[in-house]
Amino acid sequence: MKAYFSHYTNLIFTFILLFTGDSVFGQVRSVIKLNDGWLFKRGEIPEAEKVNFDAKNWEKVRIPHDYAIFGPFDKEIDKQTVAITQNNEKVATEKTGRTGALPYIGEAWYRNTFEVPDFKKGKRALLLFEGTMSQPKVYLNGRLIGQWNYGYSYFYFDISEELLENKENTLAVQLTNLPQSSRWYPGAGLYRNVSIIVTEDVSFEQWGISITTKQLQEDFAQVHVKSEVVGQPDYIVTEIQDLNGKTVAVDSSSKVFGKFFEQDIKVENPKLWEPDAPNLYIAISKLYKDGKLTDIKHTRFGIRTIAYIAGKGFLLNDKVTKFKGVCLHHDLGPLGAAVNKAALRRQMEILKDMGCNAIRSAHNMPSFEQLELADEMGFLFLAESFDEWAKPKVKNGYAKFFNSDAEKDIVNLVRATRNHPSIVMWSSGNEVPDQWGSEGVKRAKFLQEIFHREDPTRPVTVGMDQVKAVMESGFGVLVDIPGLNYRTHLYEEAYQKFPQGMLLGSETASTVSSRGVYKFPVQIAKNKTYDDLQSSSYDLESTSWSNLPEDDFILQDDKDWVIGEFVWTGFDYLGEPTPYDEKWPSRSSYFGINDLAGLPKDRFYLYRSRWNTTDNTLHILPHWTWPDRVGQTTPVFVYTNFDRAELFVNGKSMGVQQKNNSTPQHRYRLMWMDVKYEPGTVKVVAYHKDGSKAMEKEIHTAGKPHKIVLEADRSTINADKEDLSFVKVSVVDKHGNLCPNANIPLQFEVSGAGNFKAVCNGDPTSLEPFHLPTMRTFNGQLVVLVQSKDKAGIAKLVVKGKGLKSSELSINIK
Ligand code: GAL
Repeated sequence: MKAYFSHYTNLIFTFILLFTGDSVFGQVRSVIKLNDGWLFKRGEIPEAEKVNFDAKNWEKVRIPHDYAIFGPFDKEIDKQTVAITQNNEKVATEKTGRTGALPYIGEAWYRNTFEVPDFKKGKRALLLFEGTMSQPKVYLNGRLIGQWNYGYSYFYFDISEELLENKENTLAVQLTNLPQSSRWYPGAGLYRNVSIIVTEDVSFEQWGISITTKQLQEDFAQVHVKSEVVGQPDYIVTEIQDLNGKTVAVDSSSKVFGKFFEQDIKVENPKLWEPDAPNLYIAISKLYKDGKLTDIKHTRFGIRTIAYIAGKGFLLNDKVTKFKGVCLHHDLGPLGAAVNKAALRRQMEILKDMGCNAIRSAHNMPSFEQLELADEMGFLFLAESFDEWAKPKVKNGYAKFFNSDAEKDIVNLVRATRNHPSIVMWSSGNEVPDQWGSEGVKRAKFLQEIFHREDPTRPVTVGMDQVKAVMESGFGVLVDIPGLNYRTHLYEEAYQKFPQGMLLGSETASTVSSRGVYKFPVQIAKNKTYDDLQSSSYDLESTSWSNLPEDDFILQDDKDWVIGEFVWTGFDYLGEPTPYDEKWPSRSSYFGINDLAGLPKDRFYLYRSRWNTTDNTLHILPHWTWPDRVGQTTPVFVYTNFDRAELFVNGKSMGVQQKNNSTPQHRYRLMWMDVKYEPGTVKVVAYHKDGSKAMEKEIHTAGKPHKIVLEADRSTINADKEDLSFVKVSVVDKHGNLCPNANIPLQFEVSGAGNFKAVCNGDPTSLEPFHLPTMRTFNGQLVVLVQSKDKAGIAKLVVKGKGLKSSELSINIK
């Protein structure tokens, strides 16, 4: 319960934070991450217990923590009888699973007790929260020191007065989650990090350093560093290092303008940041007073320029770059909202392999961890702030707080994240009902000006779905970058009417599918539903307001003025089970290119065949195990970057298909619509333009489930109680073919240096809890998450299932 933070521990934090842009040496600055030692309790607690409490009934937890993800799923939770106007609904109907059917609603408390040895009266101490769901009221040593409303905001309080020196402090955080406060699963609890930052009284302001590339020439960059300070330092020294620790420039200045130092630093022959070469630098900023060092801070940044030019589009370092992006909600499937860097990294590796170069944090502030990874791995980032302004979408949404909080929420978003080179655009809102009416235009202007004031270097977009309304009202003229959500039929008109000379597909496609599920007959459909509550992976089904991927591909490919797209969504997420909003037990989305477990659906290969320009793609669908379809028409689709291919069933040619312009689908997919199913082998041979064979691939009818195959995404992970190995579990026949109809209950056991953390099968209708070590496979597969303990060793995972040869896998924990 009690946590002491030694100097030694602080140095470890120094190391960690070196790469996060916000660091530290013990003497003048220490950053203490409060991950351990938390006690947690759901429900209200009596006034008297806010200070003195009986810890016996409190659960010991570690943060990041999402208390709702453990379920159980329950149809009654947050059941909403509403008409979703964004979905063009006119009549209210009962919606189940809209927010994930997980128990996020109600009050909850977290407590921690600790000493801060580095703190002495006269020093400055801040308490920083990176995301708390939601409406935290923060008590320190029994006194309410502050509160915040928006669950996605980063915020801090100055606790210099309240923090006790050489004594135990008690921190208590009360959270309240209201019903009908979200359109998706929001998570619940202290789901991102909490830390205490101790500095001298003369120091850098929190998030006070801003670093931009002011000028970029062939052989040098002019890097501008603006530093906001607290107290009255005499001078500043800023040293720029590359990631190998080599100093590339140093500058000092004693010219202080009020609270600001401004420096222009020349970096010779800079290595630029861009998605294919995400080069980074670190600025080490030091403050001096009376000859003594009073603060030191490390800020990681990138040297790059961005420009948005009518007729050209988005230019990164002067090169036209289109956004090949995805929208992502913040939940991490079976981990819920609890942030985890390994889980984020895995998502982003999957996206990289797909050729994706951009992420939109729909519809709220991204985690710091995700931005750090975007910088390191080379993703362009569209950082969004709100899903609602003053007009509500849900009864208890952000509209309640908009008037009082919008400005401070944006200020914190920008100040905390502006040094990430990955962020190239802000978004002030998504499909806000304020698109209607003149008040909304004023709000759009008000928000955009806050972004501009805080960050003059990046433009602002809004994801607009009421395109006709924003053409009329001036809303669309006002936003820096007009972002259209869907409405592909209005792109031309919007481009003509708006003056910006470009459009962004801020949200596209919303095609739905379930991994490994194929429906017959194969046809294009809107809002299609089936008795098994799944959607077809022939990738021809979308919602009434949305479209198939190709409608966007055509705009992206044929119109220079379309600067890219952000597909809804990269991964399935909890909640919003459209087209089954009214059908229990659907409780998570069908929109993902990858499922909730992170396993690719067929659509992954459609995007990959277009976006990944360095690796070849050749993917066949559907699977070829259809005992009930012998002799029936079973179309075969191939997703490939090659233009032409031939299909063979059991050695017999089904003909050559060539991409063509007869329909949007024929332009990007190869389709053999008349194939009659017979068990055996389907082979596809792709051809180069000159007719020579480029690549081939085959799939086979699977026999009976025989054994379990385990594949870890990483076989060595860190002994830090956070790192994860994601193990894909497949049920295969005796020849190793995936059994695509196997829905078999499996049991998992982890021993040694790791723990069983969670499991997920990607079935949007599954009510099996993620944290218990048993789950049935969904269409032959699922993913088990193994988490490290804090000591090096071997973690052993054993997976068993009735009638199957069991399997085990060792993961090194180091
Ligand atoms: C959009 C909305 C998203 C999601 C999506 C589903 O209108 O911005 O949050 O609801 O529709 O198609």
